Amino acid sequence: MTQLLRPALAAARPVPSLDEAPLHLRPTEVEVDLGALAHNLKEAKRLVGPAVQVLAVVKADAYGHGAVPAARAFVGAGAAWLGVAIVEEGAELRRAGLVAPICVLSGLAGDEAAALVEHRLTPMVYRPDQLAAVARAVRAAGLVHYGVHLKVDTGMGRYGALPEEVGAFLDALRAHPALELEGLATHFALADQGDDRSMAEQRAKFDAVAQSLSARGLHPKLRHLANSASLLDHPETHADLVRPGLMLYGIAPAARLKRLADLKPALTFRTHITHLKEVPAGFPVSYGATYVTTRPSRLATLPVGYADGLPRAVSNRAEMLVRERRAPLVGRVCMDACLLDVTHVAGASIGDEVVLIGRQGAVAIGADELATHADTVSYEILCGIGKRVPRVYR
Ligand SMILES: Cc1ncc(COP(=O)(O)O)c(C=O)c1O
Repeated sequence: MTQLLRPALAAARPVPSLDEAPLHLRPTEVEVDLGALAHNLKEAKRLVGPAVQVLAVVKADAYGHGAVPAARAFVGAGAAWLGVAIVEEGAELRRAGLVAPICVLSGLAGDEAAALVEHRLTPMVYRPDQLAAVARAVRAAGLVHYGVHLKVDTGMGRYGALPEEVGAFLDALRAHPALELEGLATHFALADQGDDRSMAEQRAKFDAVAQSLSARGLHPKLRHLANSASLLDHPETHADLVRPGLMLYGIAPAARLKRLADLKPALTFRTHITHLKEVPAGFPVSYGATYVTTRPSRLATLPVGYADGLPRAVSNRAEMLVRERRAPLVGRVCMDACLLDVTHVAGASIGDEVVLIGRQGAVAIGADELATHADTVSYEILCGIGKRVPRVYR
């Protein structure tokens, strides 16, 4: 297989010996530019200024980029905190040796308090039973002090105590002297939509909760609200800590936000042509024959399909890059393969690199473009890139 690769690809990937794990033989891969991740983190830091800490969100395997290498890049570039969705993700980072504070953003969903404390992860909590579970685990671990962050639901409707539930939460907190209310957090529902009224309403509710805490003598040292969109668009939400995710991977959460920061997309999703054929007009292509050639055509088969995270919804819609030209995806995306019409790409050959997301010379395709074709968001495209696609780091 390797002799089919173009020289640049072959040089970047030596053939592994068969007893090495994991094998990386197929030409479909994700390349992550760690320098771009570090650049984007520094850009976030520049935008918020030295008084505000940055929590780098690395949940969902760092939005498909690989949690451990991404977390290392972010910490190396100055992230004070890391953010994960679930305890298992935090444990993975600890096992890899990351010692930065890690916040579990989704709180506790079940019986994870012991593992949470064992790995010294900081939970977002919002119910008395969660406080009790963390306090039990803290006691069992022989600790006398543990930080928690209160998540307030100011309008997202997902996790968090409603403002009217905060009083009961604080009453419950008094029963657990080992727990320190280190943080107070909320999450915006419409930050990427440019809906300033909703942002202001959520902020006002958050400020009112902060004041009610103050009235009880509680002054959490980390107030945090901002995701990427609010970091970029609403400096008044920066508070003590910001929680960017998507922008750290080089993607703006909305087209109108692109100009507000110098972001470098870090991920390239590529494969190469493994088969080529000349077919006449009237030739049906792939399952369901949803595409039939209208002229004599050159079709390239690519070893990437929906099991790798190329959504079936982009069938007959998306384009990819070959020899720095855009080529249309024709016919239905299969589980392990798809087809490109390369009739207009002079010299297209077996072994040519094909870029699904990323840059090829002077041309580029963003995750947002693929997302538009799939009627979804860049987030889902990035986290949907399958486990069997090896990640390589530059
Ligand atoms: C609580 C919380 N904070 C921050 C983020 C980061 O959001 P974004 O990737 O839009 O910056 C997320 C992601 O969904 C989140 O759930």
